[in-house]
Amino acid sequence: MTQTELESAVGEVLIDEPTLQTRIAELGDEISSDYAGKDLLLVGVLKGAVFFMADLMRSLTVPCEVDFMAISSYGAETDSSGVVRILKDLDIPLQGRDVLVVEDIVDSGLTLSYLMRNLRARDPASLEVCALLTKPDRREIEVPVKYVGFEIPNRFVIGYGLDYAERYRNLRYVGVLNEEIVP
Ligand code: PRP
Repeated sequence: MTQTELESAVGEVLIDEPTLQTRIAELGDEISSDYAGKDLLLVGVLKGAVFFMADLMRSLTVPCEVDFMAISSYGAETDSSGVVRILKDLDIPLQGRDVLVVEDIVDSGLTLSYLMRNLRARDPASLEVCALLTKPDRREIEVPVKYVGFEIPNRFVIGYGLDYAERYRNLRYVGVLNEEIVP
């Protein structure tokens, strides 16, 4: 796929690269200050969060570790049902750790709500969430997100980790999917 083909999937740039990176640096400062002297463990949910995780973690100035989970939600392809199966669990025990879940996007909130229940049962010292994007209009269940990068409207977004049919995660910015490419 050429760069032009990649970008033809984008109807409109929603958050450009400098805006993303500036906000991630701000989040990094805030998190570094809140977790000074703590035992921070970042938990990422594959696959979309990988890109945000890589930049956020490098913007932190406190010692921290990272681990990942892979989950699969049952139900329709683009809509999360909230029924979640763990495909790959964490390697690191959470007991007594200050855990920060890092998500690319919170949409209905169903995935995160399930995940938080599951992680809380592992007895961490603290458990918070940092999400790059949130779509408040789509929320079906209340889930506290302490650190939010951007609130976005209810549009299908791709890039910077977010996919359409597994593609376009490698765009350096967040764009709105060009509906003309949808079969
Ligand atoms: C996205 C995102 C969240 C979930 C949010 O993952 O990373 O985990 O959807 O949706 P919800 O708030 O409606 O539950 P996705 O299932 O697209 O997997 P991916 O990261 O592998 O693309």
